[in-house]
Amino acid sequence: MKISRRSGAKLRAPEFLLHLPAVQALFFQILSFFILVSLAFGLATFFGWTMNIYLAAILQGLLAAGFSYWRGLASWWLAISLFFPLALIAALSLQLPPVLFLFAFLVFLCLYWTTFRTQVPFYPSGLATWKAVADLLPKDQGIHFIDIGSGLGGLVLNLARRRADSRFVGIEIAPLPWLVSVLRAYLLGSHAHFARGDYGRLNFADYDVVFAYLSPVAMPGLWKKACSEMRPGTMLLSYEFIIPDVAPAFVVSPVLNSPQIYGWRM
Ligand SMILES: C[S@@+](CC[C@H](N)C(=O)[O-])C[C@H]1O[C@@H](n2cnc3c(N)ncnc32)[C@H](O)[C@@H]1O
Repeated sequence: MKISRRSGAKLRAPEFLLHLPAVQALFFQILSFFILVSLAFGLATFFGWTMNIYLAAILQGLLAAGFSYWRGLASWWLAISLFFPLALIAALSLQLPPVLFLFAFLVFLCLYWTTFRTQVPFYPSGLATWKAVADLLPKDQGIHFIDIGSGLGGLVLNLARRRADSRFVGIEIAPLPWLVSVLRAYLLGSHAHFARGDYGRLNFADYDVVFAYLSPVAMPGLWKKACSEMRPGTMLLSYEFIIPDVAPAFVVSPVLNSPQIYGWRM
């Protein structure tokens, strides 16, 4: 199956990278490290006082968290900045073989890939959500459905099993979940299709239903894209995350007290 791409996708400017929270958090950590090293060096030189490594780690964390707060990063970045140096010392004290760190890094890289840029990490939806989405799909005719950011492919595979009359596609940017979904489709003999790539480069006009389980950061951009590309009468669904200032046409709760599915008719 061919997934059409929009032409003229814009190149990201280097300044864009500098505005990413993950890049800023890394920069604050490095800056704090150098401030702490200078401080420790000054104290040792002028007062003959050697700073304890744990104290240095706590101070570095506090400094980095302070910078993060000052720049208005989200609260979880403050916590990550605060505990990162101590976590690093704890991990090093385990004296694990370096190859393990390399292995863990590669696994996380393949799983989360460009999360530092998209700010949409991997976390799967569940069976109750898949059932609720199935109930929302138009029944009178076959449809073309896409899950933008399909993760391990659970939703797309489940829907494809329920609806032989329709086409179900997932697009996933991270290589590991994409590979898992392709293998699952192959082993299950599913007619679902999985592409690897960025949904930003698709043309939503090709689809009758677009499903998203992304993050609050992605929603304004998604709405803009949906408005400019989706055909009248088609449907945009978002699990858990609303579109700011745009009231949904309907809201469905898969189970009591769970996140909701929001729907917009285009
Ligand atoms: C919260 S998970 C949802 C997974 C799946 N839709 C589900 O319901 O189980 C979001 C997924 O979107 C992927 N993703 C994030 N940005 C993307 C992009 N621009 N294009 C394609 N996939 C993306 C992430 O790698 C992640 O696997």
